[in-house]
This record gives sequence, structure tokens and C-alpha cells, in this order.
Amino acid sequence: MTSAQRKDDHVRLAMEQHRAHSGLNQFDEVSFVHHALAGIDRPDVSLATSFGGIEWQAPLYINAMTGGSAKTGEINRDLATAARESGVAIASGSMNAYLKDPSCAHTFSVLRTHNPDGFVMANINATTSVDNARRAIDLLRADALQIHVNTAQETPMPEGDRSFSSWVGQIEQIAAGVDVPVIVKEVGNGLSRQTVLLLQNLGVRVADLAGRGGTDFARIENGRRELADYAFLHGWGQSTAACLLDAQDVALPVLASGGVRNPLDVARSLALGARAVGVSGGFLRTLMDDGVPALVAQITTWLDQLAALMTMLGARTPADLTRCDVLIHGSLRDFCADRGID
Ligand code: FNR
Repeated sequence: MTSAQRKDDHVRLAMEQHRAHSGLNQFDEVSFVHHALAGIDRPDVSLATSFGGIEWQAPLYINAMTGGSAKTGEINRDLATAARESGVAIASGSMNAYLKDPSCAHTFSVLRTHNPDGFVMANINATTSVDNARRAIDLLRADALQIHVNTAQETPMPEGDRSFSSWVGQIEQIAAGVDVPVIVKEVGNGLSRQTVLLLQNLGVRVADLAGRGGTDFARIENGRRELADYAFLHGWGQSTAACLLDAQDVALPVLASGGVRNPLDVARSLALGARAVGVSGGFLRTLMDDGVPALVAQITTWLDQLAALMTMLGARTPADLTRCDVLIHGSLRDFCADRGID
């Protein structure tokens, strides 16, 4: 199995998962209290957000996905075009494929060539050397670096990593050795409060919680082989809503991603403390099914509807949403009780 084949498999299986996906999403257990006279005027609403030295005009981004094969290079080109047209930030997929085999560089560099002025994040794993982290940043002229942590993805992979203890030290070295902000992200199993607190001491600027509820990588890895021998890992980890509640009042800025389905999930995430909200599988599905104009229309509509929701809720800025009254129900409420969250 080549790395390029693996990247194509990931896209195919993620799309199968998103077409079939239903079931509990804990964002449904977060609701806003409606205050009929809280509304403000739409021109007074700004979607701009800033965190960890980063400034975006909108609190939404296309999160890490792909690169490394001919097909995924085309996907990256199209995602970059959509990011440029809609004005949102974008992350590459893991660039370790490029670091091992520079002949696939163009499948990543399209993210910059098709989006020359946009905010672009390079993505690497937590075993990457500082020199290689710099090479990834340089190729994209990246504005920030994402380091993904994905033990529940590696574990079901026969060729996956089995040595995780070096990751903490490596993250600290990379954060000290590169000159762009470093964001550490999960891939759909969530970062716990304990993990976010640890990251805070490693020189990391931002944590992307990337929780359960959307793309499930243990399921994808199991889907790549006949014997799904790690099926018990499906659904592993904490939901994005649970991660946001778990990380309440932590000083390190957090981003929310994983299972974000619509502008209301974006508003819920911002109300629970996220500085911005990332989407991967859902946006990829729109691109694959309906093309670049449809993805641009989707992102533009989401931003417009987010501003409309903020107008209704009386939030002038994304940070203002944290002052809205929010109710937590069902299993998410049980999670809060178990974790001692007020
Ligand atoms: C991903 N994701 C991912 N993350 C990462 O840090 N590096 C990567 O290379 C990839 N690759 C990748 C491929 C595909 C096809 C998908 C759909 C996703 C994970 C992604 O960034 C995100 O954390 C999860 O997908 C959860 O978000 P969604 O998909 O539920 O919005």
C-alpha cells in the first residue's frame, strides 16, 4: 500500500461515512435560551476573530484533509480556490507524504498557488523533525503550522505508529523551532482538558479540539482492510461539544472542529468558547458531489447565516456569543456532571 493509495482511500471512505452518517451528535444537546428582545442590528455584527497572534476575517476554516496523490492534488487545488473565493482559512493534509517523497510537492503547493493571499496552514505529524517542519512551512509559505495527534487512528493501522511517548517532547521542539504559530489538533477523537493544559506548557499557541461526531478515523482505517479487527474503536473519544465544555476557562485559545454540520453548530461552538470553527468531511462532500461553486456558496451562506444568528442573539462579535445563555441537555449534561463542570 503506497502513501498515495492511502490518501485516496481516506477520501473515498470519509465520503462513504458522510453519506451514511446519522445518529447522535452532541451539538444537538446544546441550545440557546431565546430572548425575544436581545436582537441587535446586522451592520453592527462583525465576524472577525483573533487568537494566539492570528487574525481572521471569519471564524470558519477548511480543516486539514489531503494531498500526496494526483487525485488529492486536484482536491487541494479546488479547496484552495473555494477558500480564496469565500475568504476563509485553509489547512493542508498531512505533509509527511511530501517530506518523504518531494515528487508530490505540487499536490500540496496548489494550496498556495491557487490562494496566494489567503491564510494557509501546513499540517504535519508529531514525529516530524524541526527541519522538516520548516520545509513543510516553506513549501506553502504557511501562516501557521498544525501538528496532528492521532493515536486512535494509528492504532488500527497495521503500518501505524506504536511509539507515542516522544510526541510531547517533539511538539515542544517544533513549537520552539519554527517562526509561525503552532496549532496542535486531534483528528476526530477530541483533546481533553488535561491535554490542552499540557499543550499550554509546550509553547503551542492554539489547540484545535477536533472531537468525535463527524469523520471517524478508526472506522476509516478499519474500512481499509477486510478484517475490521479494531471495530471497538469506532466512536472513540469525546465529542467536540464535550471537549469545549471540558476546556472551559483554559487560557490557551481553542478551536472547535469535528462533526460541525451547519451554522448553528458554528454558533454553538463559539458560544462554548471556540475562537473559530473548522469543517473537513462536510465541505469535502459538497466539493466532491457538487463542485467548487457549490462549496463557495455553502461557505458564504454559512457565514451569512452565522451573522444572522448573532444579530438575533445580540452578539456583536464571535466572542460575544460566550455571554449568551446556553442550555446543556442529555448525555452532555451527564458528561459535565461526571467531569465536575458547572
Ligand atoms: C482528515 N483529517 C486530517 N487531519 C489532519 O490533521 N491531517 C490529515 O492529513 C487529515 N486527513 C484527513 C483526510 C480526510 C479525507 C478527512 C475527511 C479528514 C481530519 C480532519 O482535519 C478533522 O479533524 C476531522 O475530519 C474531523 O472533522 P470533520 O470531518 O468531522 O469536520
